[in-house]
Amino acid sequence: MLVFAVETSCDETSVCILNHDKKILSHIVFSQKEHIKFGGVVPELASRAHLQILQHISQEAFNKSKIDIEDIDVFCATCGPGLIGGLLVGSTFAKSLAFGSSKAFVPINHLEGHLLSPTFNNNIVFPCISFLLTGGHTQIYLINSVGNYELLGETLDDALGETFDKVAKLIGLSYPGGPEIEKKAKNGSARTFNLPNPLEKQRNLNFSFSGMKTAINLIVKKHNFADQKFQENLSASFQEKVVSILESKLALTIKHLNNRKINISQICLVGGVASNKYICEKIKRVAHNYKCSVVLPRKDMLSDNAAMIAWACLQKYLKDPISNLHFKASSRLKILNDSK
Ligand code: KG4
Ligand code: ZN
Repeated sequence: MLVFAVETSCDETSVCILNHDKKILSHIVFSQKEHIKFGGVVPELASRAHLQILQHISQEAFNKSKIDIEDIDVFCATCGPGLIGGLLVGSTFAKSLAFGSSKAFVPINHLEGHLLSPTFNNNIVFPCISFLLTGGHTQIYLINSVGNYELLGETLDDALGETFDKVAKLIGLSYPGGPEIEKKAKNGSARTFNLPNPLEKQRNLNFSFSGMKTAINLIVKKHNFADQKFQENLSASFQEKVVSILESKLALTIKHLNNRKINISQICLVGGVASNKYICEKIKRVAHNYKCSVVLPRKDMLSDNAAMIAWACLQKYLKDPISNLHFKASSRLKILNDSK
């Protein structure tokens, strides 16, 4: 079986051809550059860029893999959540190919793509927990099996990746801010600035990052300059605070599961922020105290990519071979658990 997948939910235009033996025959990720000068994603520009590039990279994927479009058995695309313009471009493109070749179309939830990404390169023992850390979402899930997810907590305001991007912009670093902050933090002192942790006393599994952004804005205004040392120290202080918030949420998650008599041995970190090596190393150490290992997706499946969408599709279609050409893309699509 051959799957062709499209991912266009934000500012990455990506396609992938995957076979049923888990072999990635072609995978192209095109990161749009037009957003850099705005310091964040401009939805209208993103949709136009998807429209311009999608056909080219699809052709390239078929050429490189020497696969004919007629050989594809299942077409799939991210149908949400995300920016609606991009979702419509990608899903309509994949649906048209499926319709034109009388093949199946499978709608994929972007978050499920991220959640299942570590199952591609690891032996996952269910139940496990997953910290989904992206530019649009920050959530903790209990995963009981493929297709069965329980949301345990999430951000009440900004997502973690979004906070990295906004903080980077405030201190004069470029977009996307996550990798820039990680780089700067290497030479900074994490003890320079004391930043808030708004939900510290509430001891639940939700997050709040908007206060951090406000606090950093005030610090930036007070200093009135952004020299290299200032950027490094603020980056290190911010990154360390993020680590301490994630560590405390991990401890609360384990406690919550213990109360429910649920044993887990693996903690998955997924989404763009899980590319941060410093954060992952710190979480690994804490996880060890709970006799858990930290599991990560392959590097090319961390940030937005079509390979994770193809992989989610393959697993879902093998279990339940249903085509759904009428599925409507939605910017706020929720994860639905499988009925079977
Ligand atoms: O998963 P992703 O590619 O897209 C969404 O689904 O949103 O995540 C993108 C986010 C961006 O906000 C980016 O700044 C962040 O992931 N990110 C990082 C790092 N690399 C990417 N955040 C912290 N440290 C990094 N090294
Ligand atoms: Zn994503």
